[in-house]
Amino acid sequence: MTAGSVLAIDAGTTGVTALVVEHDGTIAAKGYQEFAQHFPKPGWVEHSPEEIWQATLEATREVLKKYDADALQAVGITNQRETVMLWDRETLSSPRRAIVWQDRRTSELCDRLRDAGHEERVRELTGLRLDPYFSGTKLMWLAEHEPHTWALVESGRYAVGTVDSYLAARMSRGTYHVTDVSNACRTLLLDLETGDWSDELCELFGVPRDALPELVPNWGELAVTDPKVFLGLSLPISGMAGDQQSALFGQTCFDEGDSKCTYGTGSFILTNTGTTIQRSDALLASAAWRAPDGPITYASEGSIFVTGAAVQWLRDGIQIVGSAAESEAVASTVPDSGGVVFVPALTGLGAPHWDPDARGLVVGITRGTTRGHLVRATLEAITFEVRDVLDVMPELSSLRVDGGAAANDLLCQLQADQVGVPVERPTIVETTGLGAAFLAGLGTGVWSSTDDLRDTWTLDRRFEPATDRTDADAAHARWSRAVELAKGWAKG
Ligand code: G3P
Repeated sequence: MTAGSVLAIDAGTTGVTALVVEHDGTIAAKGYQEFAQHFPKPGWVEHSPEEIWQATLEATREVLKKYDADALQAVGITNQRETVMLWDRETLSSPRRAIVWQDRRTSELCDRLRDAGHEERVRELTGLRLDPYFSGTKLMWLAEHEPHTWALVESGRYAVGTVDSYLAARMSRGTYHVTDVSNACRTLLLDLETGDWSDELCELFGVPRDALPELVPNWGELAVTDPKVFLGLSLPISGMAGDQQSALFGQTCFDEGDSKCTYGTGSFILTNTGTTIQRSDALLASAAWRAPDGPITYASEGSIFVTGAAVQWLRDGIQIVGSAAESEAVASTVPDSGGVVFVPALTGLGAPHWDPDARGLVVGITRGTTRGHLVRATLEAITFEVRDVLDVMPELSSLRVDGGAAANDLLCQLQADQVGVPVERPTIVETTGLGAAFLAGLGTGVWSSTDDLRDTWTLDRRFEPATDRTDADAAHARWSRAVELAKGWAKG
């Protein structure tokens, strides 16, 4: 083990966080930059790749104001998954905005593929399902609707990738076009068993294999930053992973059966399933990571699309809270939601319901309803959504949580009350960035093995369930009725 610190870039759905993680696992500096969300049509969500890159530079600049760049030994990248973008291999500029994982525009395309009988084979090869969530149908949509742009993908001028590979390309001034199994397995183009791009899937979704990035392990010598474009930093990019798998790593869930729940834009519950691909109707099978020259470690995942994004909508959409943090205080002004149920199916429903045509719904409003009730109903909705996923998973003895909203004590307590098992919050809840730093540090010898990392996990607080089970179940039953109402709404 060598001393030194690692820069982690966490390019999430709403902003980019840069962290410096010391070799004792503590965070020495942090920078953050939000970027714009574009909603060109109902159900569509786009990001500007250039803005993601500029936010990455800005967050890193903020860190470098607080931390000596000479002490940095490596960079790790973690990112929102499934979001796809194109860029010119020469100029690195993008011909169009990225289509974000939350975007529902390919709902009908998924129906078409399903009607043509492709779903079973797609599930068998990928561990996923035909849902607009994943990158494959987003690329198919681009080919169908923007043929001039797509022609340049086919001619080899434009590269195709997810946010990890885009950032690696930008940081290296186009020298590298790489990705890893944790990101690749969410595109619908990877054979989950072999961990390689599948010709059969590339053909089905019409994506030229040559346009895709090279697959590299999750740590090791993956790429190198170019100081001319990356703030004077010349560092190995030695760790990469999709954000949810990175959080699993950051929570030191290295053993089969270890689980975590991350509260971000959405919430994602992942369980390490070792070298076994665990297939399920309601959950997804994914690659967690692949060690250099090692086998793939797999995970079972329950993806919930909108949790933190619902709080963001309270802030930006209907403006009833000034900040996400304020939601705790506002929700605490009332003892319960007063019968209000909010189903935040703002971009359809993910696990375990899988309905891209579901839309948001608020029911149970009376003359006495206040913003406190609606804000509390939002926090409750997050806990119901997580329970829906846990109900289809093998039983847990406790739930390890992380992500920004895990700092919200009320949310953690409501979560424990709803799921009926203790909720454990670690001291560091920025587990996504931490995971990327761990991966990059393993790749450069800051840590020599995962055993070195286990001791970095420390408990901040354990929330014990305090509500009567009958009450919790009755509230959940009311929620389930509302979910049924929200389903299929966009189809009319
Ligand atoms: O699958 C989508 C996920 O990677 C997005 O994560 O942290 O931006 O909510 P987050």
